[in-house]
Amino acid sequence: MTSAAVLGATVDFLAELAGDGRALEFAVGTGRVGVPLRERGVPVTGIELSEHMADVLRRKVDEDTLPVVIGDMATTVVPGEFSLVYLVYNTISNLLTQDEQVECFRNAARHLRPGGRFVIELGVPPLRFLPPGQVAVPFDVSERHLGFDTVDTVEQLLVSHHFTRDGEDGRYRRGASRHRYAWPAELDLMARIAGLQLERRVADWDGSPFTQESPKHISVWRKSA
Ligand SMILES: C[S@@+](CC[C@H](N)C(=O)[O-])C[C@H]1O[C@@H](n2cnc3c(N)ncnc32)[C@H](O)[C@@H]1O
Repeated sequence: MTSAAVLGATVDFLAELAGDGRALEFAVGTGRVGVPLRERGVPVTGIELSEHMADVLRRKVDEDTLPVVIGDMATTVVPGEFSLVYLVYNTISNLLTQDEQVECFRNAARHLRPGGRFVIELGVPPLRFLPPGQVAVPFDVSERHLGFDTVDTVEQLLVSHHFTRDGEDGRYRRGASRHRYAWPAELDLMARIAGLQLERRVADWDGSPFTQESPKHISVWRKSA
């Protein structure tokens, strides 16, 4: 996700949508995308829940260059109007209820100027890999890392488990993160509730077509002019 190829295509895609307006990144993190987009000439503001992540970003750029407001992307309001709001790297799934995800769409729409766009990057739920009776889907089995998702199809929740081998003693460190998965069609409905219409859905930042084999999507919703 930090390679020049991935970031270059991501920044190209977002800069074109921002045009001559301002961009707001929900869950800006350490500025992986926000910083290079700012360097491309797009004014970027961030909202971020974690002060620690914002501190890491702050070591890269100062407050005047890329302002960050500490808060929840579903509810926090920042001043100004934006031509682009974006939320990448599966992060809408960090909101664990449908209500919170709807609020996030509403909050994006609240910040957009007429004709502005909301962009989300999100994995397609991996349910096609689940045979009846199984709840776990491996996504990485390599020398230093074992990763698998467990899925609760009743609650629409997914836990990503990571076992990562440390360099020195060969022990495995365990980590896990919780997510609420959502199909593209559910996101389209959330967008409609927020007054946005689907404009484009592609499989990746290079604009490749979204198909039934695509593991993720980049979706663009537009606020009516
Ligand atoms: C996977 S990282 C993505 C960071 C950045 N957008 C990127 O693409 O590199 C997820 C980030 O979302 C932040 N986050 C999670 N829930 C949030 C929320 N409700 N509001 C704002 N930020 C949130 C986390 O603190 C973390 O920095």
